Amino acid sequence: MIISQANLEDLDGILSLLKANHISYISAEHKPDGFVTTNFTDAQLKALIVQERGVTIAKDNDQVLAFAMATSWEFWSDWPFFAYMIKRLPEFMFEDKILTTQNSYQYGPICIDKSVRGTGLFEQVFYASLASMRERYPVMVTFINQINHRSYAAHTKKVPMLKAGTFQFNQNDYYLMACSTAMTQ
Ligand SMILES: CC(C)(COP(=O)(O)OP(=O)(O)OC[C@H]1O[C@@H](n2cnc3c(N)ncnc32)[C@H](O)[C@@H]1OP(=O)(O)O)[C@@H](O)C(=O)NCCC(=O)NCCS
Repeated sequence: MIISQANLEDLDGILSLLKANHISYISAEHKPDGFVTTNFTDAQLKALIVQERGVTIAKDNDQVLAFAMATSWEFWSDWPFFAYMIKRLPEFMFEDKILTTQNSYQYGPICIDKSVRGTGLFEQVFYASLASMRERYPVMVTFINQINHRSYAAHTKKVPMLKAGTFQFNQNDYYLMACSTAMTQ
């Protein structure tokens, strides 16, 4: 397994893993194992990979088995959900500091292929993504849908993210989570 920052050649592999885990495509039976709600066009994903260097992947035999996105708040500002989060961000604190678009970035979505869940790959990809942003920001922020119990368990038990608060968007309830980018595995 090789963990690295994604290149354009990984685009199709990332999109197919995203599709396999997207709420629009997964069955009710698989929903308890987690789901992704963010949608990307090819152009947006290309910009994420090339301009932001914001996609960490794990590959085995040329197959993308995991990805984690990480990027500036500005990058996301065209998505209504993120525009809302940016507006609400200063209401939340981490380690006695008010969260801002300058001192934090947004991590997620993360996806681990079904075949390699529970193997420790989640932790490896999480920390590799965190390390990729360490020089740029002191704090990482993410949101977790409160019905995504597997994601919440992974981000609190497998890695020690802290709950900074909760918020609602489009009748969904979310946890706002944060951690220091100085954290290592
Ligand atoms: C969320 C995800 C990244 C976590 O990675 P993972 O490899 O599955 O994580 P792990 O299995 O190591 O840890 C998850 C923990 O949640 C537990 N868990 C599994 N299903 C659960 C459920 N329905 N409710 C509560 N906990 C659950 C697991 O048992 C495990 O804890 P344990 O090892 O102590 O038993 C992965 O499942 C995934 O990609 N899901 C689909 C996409 C997604 O939801 N992404 C996150 C939101 S963007």
